[in-house]
Amino acid sequence: MRAMTEQVETAAAGASGGVPAEVLREVDALRRALHEHNIRYYLLASPTVSDAQYDRLFQHLQALEAEWPAVARDDSPTRTVGAPLQTDFRTVPHERPMLSLANGFKEEDLRAWDERVRKLLAKAEASGPQAPQDGHVVYATEVKVDGLAVSLIYEDGHLVRGLTRGDGLSGEDVTLNLRTLQDVPWDLPPYVDRLEVRGEVYMARDEFEAFNRTQAERGDKVFANPRNAAAGSLRQMDPRVTRTRPLRFLAYAVAGLRDVTSHIGALERLEQYGFRTTQPMRADGVAQVHDQYADWLARRPDLPYDIDGMVVKVNALADQDMLGAVGREPRWALAYKFPAIQEITRLLDIEVSVGRTGVLTPTAVLEPVPIAGVVVSHATLHNADEIARKDIRIGDWVVVQRAGDVIPQVVASVTERRDGTERTFAMPEACPECGSLLERLPGQVAVRCTGGLSCRAQLVHRLWHFGSRRAMDIEGLGDKLCAALVDAGLVRTVADLYGLDARDLEPLERMGAKSAANLIAAIDGSRSRPYPRLLHALGIPEVGEITANLLADAFPSLETLEAASREDLEGIHGIGPEMANAVVAFMAEPHNRDVLARLAAAGLQVTGPVAAVTIAGPLEGEEIVFTGTLSRPRPEFQEEVRSLGARVGESVTKRTTLVVAGEAAGSKRRKAEAAGITVVDEAGFRTWLRARGASASE
Ligand code: IVH
Repeated sequence: MRAMTEQVETAAAGASGGVPAEVLREVDALRRALHEHNIRYYLLASPTVSDAQYDRLFQHLQALEAEWPAVARDDSPTRTVGAPLQTDFRTVPHERPMLSLANGFKEEDLRAWDERVRKLLAKAEASGPQAPQDGHVVYATEVKVDGLAVSLIYEDGHLVRGLTRGDGLSGEDVTLNLRTLQDVPWDLPPYVDRLEVRGEVYMARDEFEAFNRTQAERGDKVFANPRNAAAGSLRQMDPRVTRTRPLRFLAYAVAGLRDVTSHIGALERLEQYGFRTTQPMRADGVAQVHDQYADWLARRPDLPYDIDGMVVKVNALADQDMLGAVGREPRWALAYKFPAIQEITRLLDIEVSVGRTGVLTPTAVLEPVPIAGVVVSHATLHNADEIARKDIRIGDWVVVQRAGDVIPQVVASVTERRDGTERTFAMPEACPECGSLLERLPGQVAVRCTGGLSCRAQLVHRLWHFGSRRAMDIEGLGDKLCAALVDAGLVRTVADLYGLDARDLEPLERMGAKSAANLIAAIDGSRSRPYPRLLHALGIPEVGEITANLLADAFPSLETLEAASREDLEGIHGIGPEMANAVVAFMAEPHNRDVLARLAAAGLQVTGPVAAVTIAGPLEGEEIVFTGTLSRPRPEFQEEVRSLGARVGESVTKRTTLVVAGEAAGSKRRKAEAAGITVVDEAGFRTWLRARGASASE
């Protein structure tokens, strides 16, 4: 840094051309900032600003230097590559400089670049046959992998050296580390003598996530993205550490092949030698380049690794030579960048909200920041464990990521930017909505409010679930009305629904006399829903439609279910320990028991699978198992045959009379076939029903 200061002072003292003092100061500040960011990015693998923020500083400095040529300097970050070499590794000069790429961010940038390429090649036409004949240039387009550049030198077919890009002129000797990568061949076919292969070292996204989780569990550094993790892993002093990191290599350039004439041809040759390459695509002219850009952008979320753009290269190697380079950038290539998906912003607070099943979810409140066209002000933090593991504190600068349609996430905090005012986060000790105790089920990370039906936040969600079509089917009880009922203090538990009358409802916003009367009628009508539906409607954690039916079969009244022990419940086929725990915990909560008593008093069906199971119907005596993928959700089929008097089995047993097997049915189908039980597909099932006079809906 000291050397840098002196250089800048000299520049300032010698500045001619009347450069205003504030421009000099700004240029100085930008250079210092970029210099520091380069060190953090390239050497420490811990940047403190996002790539987009870096690009903005860079472009600003570039613009000032263009406007005030007197301040331009050869050692400005706009003209140099990478970071100064301050390294524990041996540094080795590159045989030819490792350049950077000019960036384009919009279509105009691409068109301007293409125009310049065409103009330069046309100018050269007089002296050579290489220029485009029909006005467009053949390009090669490929992914711009977000990793770090390395150069591999092969002599007599053997890998002798591997260097990082360093400052572009010299790199760090990381040969031993590079040898640990599966993708880096040690030997090439014997006829290959001298070859330099360049490419990108990176981590695949899923492998990065697994690696980061392990890091967090061990209390080791968590990386903000695969690029930083790859850079940190390659620059390990001990190759045994690098060996444990999931690093990969994709080749994107080669020098030393004598008999190839195009970039695409050169990379195909590398594939034959055992390299994985970026597999460039041919594009005839700028319009095709643009189409391919759109394709890559669309495919971006599905690729196994992060890409930050596409690289467009002039395909003919002779043309590349002719175009050459200016400063740090070749004229024959352009990095056509994608919108950044990560930003760095301030974590202002962590809010905790309560969902339907009472699970507490921490949400990050962020200083709003645009990411890929959307202003992000909230992001998920998953759960308290994750916050602790990643050591995310309120007040931190954090890396926020928004990829595709995925909810924005806080990835990591930038610990280097802490000033001591940050606060660690603690989950509340009681439910922030209702004050009830919280519980943490063994083996689960989620913390849950035990307030059940009396917790206000859960109540809105639960009320809505209670009235939903597959539960109590109360027409008109949508989410907004549920919130309004709770806000007006009209409903504190689901049991209160049955005490409402139309006059209570009329004062509510957008509630006329008619809709009030309709709602009351719908609530009244729901009193006769069968007992298994009521069990499902209660929203007991872990208890969905199928479990509700199993419970109703085994415990034919609410009273018997309330009295059931964990062992009783686990004794039922299809009920696991987690479900059993959830039911016991729900029933043990006094608020919940109170609500159940009131529902019974309101005349709801609190007994009898009788209604559901021994319905007199054409399928009485049958026990049907559904398996595999069917054309509609399985519960719909189950409900259908139940309503016709059949029992539904979860597994194939001696009692099973029919198995309906959808696509990809596996062990149940085999078991039934082995036992000689009739197995039918969906069409066969319809025939079977008709044969029994069961006119089921299709
Ligand atoms: S070609 C002289 N092709 O991007 C041109 N670079 O911003 C050399 N990169 O240093 C680069 N994917 O680390 C090229 N398909 C690709 C690339 C690629 C990623 C990186 C590389 C380079 C940086 C320039």
